[in-house]
Amino acid sequence: MLRTHTCGQLRLADSGKRVTLSGWVQRVRDKGGMIWIDLRDRYGITQLIFDESKTDAALIEKVRSLGREYVITAGGIVVERFSKNDKIATGEIEIVVDDLQVLNASKVPPFTIEDDTDGGEELRMKYRYLDLRRTPVRKNLELRHKMMQETRRYLDGQQFIEVETPVLIKSTPEGARDFVVPSRIHEGEFYALPQSPQTFKQLLMVSGYDRYFQIVKCFRDEDLRADRQPEFTQIDCEMSFVDQEDILNTFEGLIRHLFQSVMQVDIGEVQRMTYDEAMRLYGNDKPDIRFGMQFCEITELTKGKGFQVFDSAELVVGICAKGLAGYTRKQLDELTEFVKRPQIGAKGLVYVRYQEDGNLKSSVDKFYAEDDLKKWAATMQAEPGDLILIMAGETRATQSALSELRLKLGNDLNLRDRKQYKALWVLDFPLLEWDEESQRFHAMHHPFTSPRKDQMHLLDSDPGAVKANAYDMVINGVEVGGGSIRIYDRGIQQKMFNCLGFTEEEARNQFGFLMEAFEYGAPPHGGIAYGFDRLCALFGGSDSIRDFIAFPKNNSGRDVMIDSPSPISNEQLKELHLDVVKSK
Ligand code: AMO
Repeated sequence: MLRTHTCGQLRLADSGKRVTLSGWVQRVRDKGGMIWIDLRDRYGITQLIFDESKTDAALIEKVRSLGREYVITAGGIVVERFSKNDKIATGEIEIVVDDLQVLNASKVPPFTIEDDTDGGEELRMKYRYLDLRRTPVRKNLELRHKMMQETRRYLDGQQFIEVETPVLIKSTPEGARDFVVPSRIHEGEFYALPQSPQTFKQLLMVSGYDRYFQIVKCFRDEDLRADRQPEFTQIDCEMSFVDQEDILNTFEGLIRHLFQSVMQVDIGEVQRMTYDEAMRLYGNDKPDIRFGMQFCEITELTKGKGFQVFDSAELVVGICAKGLAGYTRKQLDELTEFVKRPQIGAKGLVYVRYQEDGNLKSSVDKFYAEDDLKKWAATMQAEPGDLILIMAGETRATQSALSELRLKLGNDLNLRDRKQYKALWVLDFPLLEWDEESQRFHAMHHPFTSPRKDQMHLLDSDPGAVKANAYDMVINGVEVGGGSIRIYDRGIQQKMFNCLGFTEEEARNQFGFLMEAFEYGAPPHGGIAYGFDRLCALFGGSDSIRDFIAFPKNNSGRDVMIDSPSPISNEQLKELHLDVVKSK
């Protein structure tokens, strides 16, 4: 072994011991007669010290030749430090080195490998292997590792069996675009990478595996955001002979276990809310319930006073921001500008100041008397000192815009405390959603999701109104998981395909294997998948899942380190029967 201890291990009690450490030179401080080196490995940093007056001249020369990130082995004696550093675990000791070997030199790294680095995002991505040496990044991966172990411990303890499903498959109906892989042997044919193992886990239920899980890579060719990567990891699970309540309890248990074992946090009650309620109160199917500011509809109260915007609106809805009546004109203009940004796309924002003196002043005073405003304020339970913000228009768009404004105010007012965790089940999602472009229904979750039993009769008469046995878990406004009870009856599955506009033949072509399997004794079953990267980011207090993935893609889907995607040679194209595609 090239070391007796790691760089994070030695304490005052080790004083006097002869030790050998190996690692990377983080920093050299040369003060003339004394030289210090911060030696780093995965476990921490230990200070090496060289006193020129007491050290062999050849050794000092070697020390002076060291550069940042050189890999060395150093032998010496542990001594108590003169000036201690309480910021690091080994801060009470240092090593008086009498033997040093350079195991490998290093080029000067393109950015400093310290907690606060001078490297920009793109540069750190290009040299990700160097970025991974930095403590904050390493801590994120250690957190991920711990969460993975605890996930396995919990699920194994609940008799779940971990089964690997294939990566080269046929398209899964998750709704995003597939990544495809051309087949060399089968000309003109393609595999698809799984968007999730959905169909396989259902087949495993037909096979009688009863409780399955897998920590699994999924691939989706969709637009990227801070919480989306083209390849990401799910904790994918499925259970047989269960109803929705069993699933919610089991997987609430998993989240509780993770918070408890990894963070020592008790998340308290996991609240429940229907999709309809979430939309009505927060305008969002993944509400952040760490703070109030719930929506209040005032459509009827605003009609008939000549204000065209409200008169023609499908929905007029507001939020009451406690104690913000003193917001200046400039601050209100900023909020208006915020909702008018193209990403949000609202036309404007109406405000009502409920002044401390009890008077109400609004941006629509031309149309509404103070008595009208009083009625709005009463409905919203506003009090003197509060600010009411109102938006109007088509229901969905208005809800979505006001939801963004609510979240912005939550941020501005520091109401979204990262150290506080509020988990929520959103239940009873609609089974189908209408797609204007294709003029047909799409499955809101996926086509195997079961309608609620009490809604089956609506499948023929009013499919758009049918609610599903589908649920999402939302923590602090992040959708961390989602699943459903599945259809296991062939007849209902066929009906569902009909609603989705599939002919029998199309359904058979795409999902024939699953429909056939359902004819061989499929048990009632259901499941869920948690977004593992999102859970890690939430636990690590970050909005970006990239920080918790060892080798992530950048925000245009590229791996700038290995330079992928990249063109392939003409030979490869030919072999894959893709030579019609022009090589760059
Ligand atoms: P769903 O599509 O809701 O369900 O995905 C489950 C969870 O995976 C996470 N997630 C993502 N994380 C990072 N990057 C992405 N591009 C991304 N897409 C999704 C989210 C989400 O809640 N087969 C079903 C599950 C089931 O029905 O059992 C499924 O995949 O946190």
